[in-house]
Amino acid sequence: MSSIERDVVIIGAGASGLTAATDLKKAGLTVAVLEARDRVGGRLWTDDIDGATLEIGGQWVSPDQDALIDTLAELGLETYSRYREGINVYLGEGGERRTFEGEIFPVAPTTEREIVSLIDRLDALVAEIDPDRPWDHPQAKELDEISFRRWLETQTEDEEARRNIGMFIAGAMLTKPAHAFSALQALLMAASAGSFSHLVDADFILDKRVKGGLQQVPLLLAERLGDDVFLNAPVRTLRWSDEGVTAIADGVEVRARRVILAVPPVLISRISYEPPLPRRQQQMHQHLSMGFVIKVHAVYETPFWREDGLSGTAFSPYELVHEAYDNSYHGDPRGTLVGFVSDEAADDVFRQSPEERKARILESLSHYYGEKALSPVVYYESDWGSEEWTRGAYAASFDMGGLARYGSDLRTPVGPVHFSCSDMAGRGYQHVDGAIRVGHETADAIIASLAPAGAASAS
Ligand code: FDA
Repeated sequence: MSSIERDVVIIGAGASGLTAATDLKKAGLTVAVLEARDRVGGRLWTDDIDGATLEIGGQWVSPDQDALIDTLAELGLETYSRYREGINVYLGEGGERRTFEGEIFPVAPTTEREIVSLIDRLDALVAEIDPDRPWDHPQAKELDEISFRRWLETQTEDEEARRNIGMFIAGAMLTKPAHAFSALQALLMAASAGSFSHLVDADFILDKRVKGGLQQVPLLLAERLGDDVFLNAPVRTLRWSDEGVTAIADGVEVRARRVILAVPPVLISRISYEPPLPRRQQQMHQHLSMGFVIKVHAVYETPFWREDGLSGTAFSPYELVHEAYDNSYHGDPRGTLVGFVSDEAADDVFRQSPEERKARILESLSHYYGEKALSPVVYYESDWGSEEWTRGAYAASFDMGGLARYGSDLRTPVGPVHFSCSDMAGRGYQHVDGAIRVGHETADAIIASLAPAGAASAS
């Protein structure tokens, strides 16, 4: 066991922890980043699977994500646009296949009116929400006591409109059923992206990808930090007092003046604290849980759907794969589709054998794109639920009532212990942009209290 001393020890080498470490080092402080896995990046993981470059974790960048965009520019990373030429596909309740352009699905005119009206009402409510302080909304408590599903039922009797609007937040974002989170949590999700309309607009929210993969961000940040990043070093115990901390990981022990817990909030309680964290933190972290989604990658000899005039964008609140896109990798002549199987549908297919699951998922893709979708040359399921150091996807959200009750304390430091993660962000919540944003803010707070006289904020 080696023992070292630093100004700040950072637990977790995801985008958030590495951003904070980079800022702290720039400000003249010494750092050590302890990472449980044998790689950096956490939920960013670009890998070669059977000869195809796949984004197993996060990948898309939207135009409002300026913290991420600044980091990409700083690291010299280039982006490219998601393929989106042509028409989109929507499957109705009976499986009937309809094509469309724009954002509004091809549904009956009455349903369309309800969808447009719901989007307007959600945009108006979201405009009243400060994503950094949703608990300050005058109706925060009330909105946190009603599930998003129930709230939608109070707004319209049109079941298809409710399912479609519900899908954008439930299956597509929080990856929990709409009965399992509150209306306030749903409004935070939309406010974190600027508006509800942004979530509905795939061309906005899923705009760009990074050449070489989004894991380049943590890889390049870690490269600059060099020997200050320790892999295979899960932190098991954290001793803390007003004088400082000792983080005890496998193979290395770090004494420091401050610590940043840059891990998903659901993993905070995996570490033993001496003394225990205060009552508030011990309670609060039990009210957050990870969503669950399977990201399915299917690579084909050619992007055959383009020949049929299809963009690859497909939705249905009635399908196993509720949304899918053309996800062909930059420079690869083959075509890749990415589809998502969320929450209870994901539970359902994980009860089956891998072969049965693959067959059902490909069958669902074929409902959108035709028979050719049944025969990919590469097939892969990103299953973050079985990853010990993540335990779900995409991120964590509060249970009913938890956001109004605990949200304002989520990032409040406890003595020398600070918290940083995308799952604690306001703007960019659950996204890499939020991870970076919170990383900068956490570093700034520590620099303000620790940096040598005259050192400026690094961000
Ligand atoms: P992250 O979880 O990445 O990092 C935490 C790190 O802490 C991990 O490396 C973990 O191993 C480590 N750790 C945990 N416990 C530890 C311990 N005890 N000791 C040491 N280390 C420990 N976002 C986006 O912007 N666009 C997108 O398209 C997507 N899509 C998407 C798809 C999928 C499938 C997933 C899973 C996620 C996304 N996301 C996304 C979300 C995005 O990937 C995510 O919000 C950020 O990468 C999270 O970064 P953090 O650094 O906050 O946590």
